[in-house]
Amino acid sequence: MTASIEDLRQRARRRLPRTVFDYVEGFSDDGFTTTANRRSFDRYLFNSRTLVDVSKVDHSTTLLGEPLATPIILAPAGLAGLLAPRGEELAAKAAASRGTVFTLSTMSIGTLEEVAAAASTPLWFQLYVWKDRGVTQSLVDRAKAAGYRALCLTVDVPVMGNREQDRRNGFTIPPRLHFSNVLDVLRHLGWVLRMSSSPRATFGNFVGHPALTRSDAVGVARFTNSQFDASVTWKDVEWLRSIWSGPLVLKGITSPEDAQRAVSLGVEALIVSNHGGRQLDFLPAAIDLLPDIVDAVEGRAELILDGGIRRGSDVAKAIALGARACMVGRPYLYGLAANGQAGVELALDLLTSELDRTLALLGRPRLNELDRTALRVDAPASLAPRTSPPHGATPTLLKPVGGTHDT
Ligand code: FNR
Repeated sequence: MTASIEDLRQRARRRLPRTVFDYVEGFSDDGFTTTANRRSFDRYLFNSRTLVDVSKVDHSTTLLGEPLATPIILAPAGLAGLLAPRGEELAAKAAASRGTVFTLSTMSIGTLEEVAAAASTPLWFQLYVWKDRGVTQSLVDRAKAAGYRALCLTVDVPVMGNREQDRRNGFTIPPRLHFSNVLDVLRHLGWVLRMSSSPRATFGNFVGHPALTRSDAVGVARFTNSQFDASVTWKDVEWLRSIWSGPLVLKGITSPEDAQRAVSLGVEALIVSNHGGRQLDFLPAAIDLLPDIVDAVEGRAELILDGGIRRGSDVAKAIALGARACMVGRPYLYGLAANGQAGVELALDLLTSELDRTLALLGRPRLNELDRTALRVDAPASLAPRTSPPHGATPTLLKPVGGTHDT
């Protein structure tokens, strides 16, 4: 019985070789931020209302002008095609069947054209800026030609975070057998057989790129550090704004100042994110970054909360704090590994039905009724991050501010 995202995670863990599962779970340094992303949701408690007619619950919304059946959208994930053959295509089809957005990573296994051909859903293309601006320009041109609706520039990877487990595991592209992982791979022959039908096991958008053909297997960190441009600045955002006419989204915003600057350059949506704790460790939890950014943006851009969502109630909390939608990464990757397209659909269904139940029990049956009055901040000592008030502090009723839904 798969009743929760945690159940899907356990299924994914059983089906994937450890090297691949560790890549999905991966965090940088000590994993403080990855843990905080989850645990900080526990500090936000609800104020519920009773005797409200909740016979009809509506979780639909709009994002960048597109109607969405659910406020939960799928995050970009490099190498998702290692979890199931044609994994990115399956995830995009699952998003289409559930009426939501799929964001394709630059570092996918499927090419951006293959994924666009597979699914008729609003697709976003996530961009990393390459040192070779010709490569960057050609990715943008290809995304435009393939019909991607929005360009999502990830701004929190000037260099790769320190993923020690991937280094210990000798995680390479394509994955290679070596002394330390032979037994693990033999225990997961089902995965080996399934993946044998995959068209490739490398970064699909760059097949033929000299850095990939030079050696037969390349460490992910080494490859990205050699190709991504660490000198990217706001000037590049302006450049992208000038060559991309559709909506521009920045992913990895963690400060109100950066949010304001992005808005002033005409960026339409911001993803408040610490990359799931995979980049700079000791950034605050994503949910704790949100309120100040909501206040700074004052409704001039749409905000998406990304990181740590494992329950529909987490989605309700993010929306109450002013997010328009939430992005999930690992939850749908667990589903993809567990059962392909149906597994991703299950992940979305679990989160969406939990959201519905939360809205009903809160006495706020529509998303646009969620605002900060639905929340109180509490910090039992056992859950408190280091900076929280001591146990026994009076729970604070959050003051209502802007950033609520208007649809
Ligand atoms: C990611 N993430 C990511 N982000 C991005 O902008 N480009 C990318 O290629 C990737 N690749 C990637 C691979 C894997 C395996 C994971 C788990 C994550 C980060 C991702 O988009 C998102 O920010 C986090 O996954 C959000 O945290 P949760 O939902 O996993 O807790």
